[in-house]
Amino acid sequence: MCGIFAYLNYQVPRTRKEIFETLVKGLQRLEYRGYDSAGIAVDGPDKTSTDITSNTICLIKKTGKVKALDEELYKKDTLDLDAELFTHFGIAHTRWATHGEPSAVNSHPHRSDKENEFVVIHNGIITNYKELKAYLINKGYEFESETDTEVIPKLIKYVYDNRESDNLSFSKLVERVIQQLEGAFALVFKSRHFPSEAVCTRRGSPLLIGVRSEHELLTENISIQYNSGHSKEGVIEKNSHNRPDCSDSINSVGDGRAVEYYFASDASAIIEHTNKVLYLEDNDIAAVTGGKLSIHRMSRKAGEDPVRAIQTLQMEMQQIMKGNFDAFMQKEIFEQPESVVNTMRGRICFDSNKVVLGGLKDHLKEIKRCRRLIMIGCGTSFYATVATRQILEELTELPVMVELASDFLDRNTPVYRDDVCFFISQSGETADTLMALHYCKNRGALTVGITNTVGSSICRETDCGVHINAGPEIGVASTKAYTSQIVSLIMFCLMMSEDRLSLQNRRTEILNGLRVLPEMIKKVLTLDEKIKTIANELYQQRSLLVMGRGFNYATCLEGALKIKEITYMHSEGILAGELKHGPLALIDKDMPVIMVIMKDSCYVKCQNALQQVTARSGRPIILCCQDDHEVIKNAYKTIELPQTVDCLQGILSIIPLQLLSFHLAVLRGYDVDCPRNLAKSVTVE
Ligand code: AGP
Repeated sequence: MCGIFAYLNYQVPRTRKEIFETLVKGLQRLEYRGYDSAGIAVDGPDKTSTDITSNTICLIKKTGKVKALDEELYKKDTLDLDAELFTHFGIAHTRWATHGEPSAVNSHPHRSDKENEFVVIHNGIITNYKELKAYLINKGYEFESETDTEVIPKLIKYVYDNRESDNLSFSKLVERVIQQLEGAFALVFKSRHFPSEAVCTRRGSPLLIGVRSEHELLTENISIQYNSGHSKEGVIEKNSHNRPDCSDSINSVGDGRAVEYYFASDASAIIEHTNKVLYLEDNDIAAVTGGKLSIHRMSRKAGEDPVRAIQTLQMEMQQIMKGNFDAFMQKEIFEQPESVVNTMRGRICFDSNKVVLGGLKDHLKEIKRCRRLIMIGCGTSFYATVATRQILEELTELPVMVELASDFLDRNTPVYRDDVCFFISQSGETADTLMALHYCKNRGALTVGITNTVGSSICRETDCGVHINAGPEIGVASTKAYTSQIVSLIMFCLMMSEDRLSLQNRRTEILNGLRVLPEMIKKVLTLDEKIKTIANELYQQRSLLVMGRGFNYATCLEGALKIKEITYMHSEGILAGELKHGPLALIDKDMPVIMVIMKDSCYVKCQNALQQVTARSGRPIILCCQDDHEVIKNAYKTIELPQTVDCLQGILSIIPLQLLSFHLAVLRGYDVDCPRNLAKSVTVE
């Protein structure tokens, strides 16, 4: 996930070296989020006056670790490291590739032009960037990167070049830019035209500002200035030349005396400098001019708070490195309400029931004509195909094969030109999946990648695909990638079935389920304490069976995988329909059994399995629907989950098992994020 950090020192003398150190430290604090490149923008060597011709902005960008960027900074012999800058604004960014591979040119800050008149750092995704890019290219602007972000600096230059008056403030320019943007963003702008001024804004992505001053801050709260309520206008030409500028007559932080400001996407980068912070709300535009911070926004909505309070962060540095979590895996489990939103963002229109996966739309006709779908993956990614097979069959009305990549290759499985082969992989680098991709390509099948890593081999080598946008997954045990893979495959089903009249009710039911999915995930996560208690009871066991069927069979397989890979306990996912064909022999009063019994078409059959278990003195811990007394009365213990549409239920039912495996591993004293013998990306056969 990308990270934003920026630093403005006003009337506080800092050497350029100190400024570099602050920026680099800020980026290092954001490293845990995962990234693949980094960059900074600072004032260039000629900064001696406010005359634009003598102001320069120096951009330094590098792929790889922040350390590599840091080394690069000191190679710039044009920059006097000992020069003291009384007032200066520097911006810095770590990028996790979404549009375009990791490279220096794709990394941030992005610039308006070769003279670096405006430079921008961005977190989030601009969903209408193609339209804006086409518009700006038509106006003669040249693009250098493959990113969605680059439209932003170009757009602000366009607005600047076409401004109606020289008095237009920097924040007003930014306001006009964000009126044209769709999607999610946190943005920080720097400009040669507005030396030592900072402007930042957000919509959908977090951004906060830390304030440090030797003297009492002028105000504790900051009042917001509202423009006179106009809505977004669609076309750039129609832009709001007659809007009132609102940068004056507002309360602000700072009184022209020495002050320092820190801008970041995450408190972890600010806390070591100051605990006085101000969180921006969507559509706030914050500007620092002459050392004063002011905030304005486009229009006030009913019930909106007109002040932004300066808060005192209570947390310690150490606590927020993993955002209050003990392990990345735990953090990633708790990120799922947001990661599923990121997977759906810009792709589902809930008002029109339309789903558009940009990376597949040009191949949709071909996919609809195919003979069968073959879904290929390893480990968790394979289980995501098991979880969605039934809904794929139902909504695409095509035969669907799900394949473990290694076994698929071992069998020399027949593949034909009219097959469509999906390759599901978090890393996009798994050797077995990649080899299966080559195998299918050689046989002329259309290949589709479902990956979480832009620029990965699977992503590059497939004909088309979908990025699941779950954000970087650092824990070796895959969690949020699994739920986002399921959401992606379900979105594919919805896209395939859009014109099937007979499937519309079903589609609507699923779309309604997806709409409230993040809230449901949040509810499941509140069960954490209860699950911890269950883990306390189980952690000394040697074995743990997980049983279910239908849509929840995949939950059993994936849950058992989580348990074995980080707790080193034996664990098996068992299809409840197979119980009497063998596994029932394992059941007695001492064998820990988890059963998944949700209210779907397999409900009655699962209850039969439950009877078979309890009749052998088994003491099942049951994942079931809230208040399902029929099941609860036969359970040893229950974990009650909110009920959703059958094909989405697996997204909820896996979460208690992710949490259980986490707590079991902690209680057994193991390193949750780095289990023995395993790697995050398995690039060997
Ligand atoms: C899951 O927790 C695993 N660590 C593992 O099974 C993983 O899902 C598998 O190696 C496939 O990886 P991929 O999704 O990166 O291709």
